[in-house]
Amino acid sequence: MARPVIAVLNGPNLNLLGERDPSVYGSETLADIEARCAAYADGLGFDVDCRQSNREGELVDMVQDVRHGAGIVINAGAYTHTSVAIRDALVTVTCPVVEVHISNVHARERFRHYSYLSAVVTGVIVGLGPQGYELAIAAVAARASTT
Ligand code: DQA
Repeated sequence: MARPVIAVLNGPNLNLLGERDPSVYGSETLADIEARCAAYADGLGFDVDCRQSNREGELVDMVQDVRHGAGIVINAGAYTHTSVAIRDALVTVTCPVVEVHISNVHARERFRHYSYLSAVVTGVIVGLGPQGYELAIAAVAARASTT
C-alpha cells in the first residue's frame, strides 16, 4: 500500500540555500534539507514530496495540488510577509500545515515580523535552522490522518 505523503514546499530564493547569506541561513543546501526531510519522514512511515518555486502563483498551484495529502510543511520565504494569495490557498487545505522559517524572523527586520500565513496554519517553527523542517514533519505526522 502507498505510504502517506507530506509535501515540503519552499518558496523564493530557498533554492540558493548554502550560498545565500550563510551567516543567516547556514551552509546546508536545499538538496541537503530535502534529503534530511526524506530520511526523517521515512522513519515515521511517510514519504515526502519536495517542491520549490520562485513564483507566487506556482506556490498557490502547489498548495492546491497537495491540499488533501497527509500534511504540508511550507517555507514561503519572502512571500510569507506579502502573499494574500498563498494564505487564501492554505485556507482550502484539509490536512495539517506547519509554517517553517530557518532564521528567527522576529530577531530580524520589522517587515519580516508579520506573516500572512501564521493565522491559517496549524503551527509555526521559527529560528531553529534546517532542523525546523524535521520538527515540522514530526508535528505534521503526529496530526496526519493516514486513512
Ligand atoms: C525565511 C525568512 C524570510 O523572511 C525570508 O524572506 C526567506 C527565508 C526563513 O526561512 O528564515 O526567504 O523564510
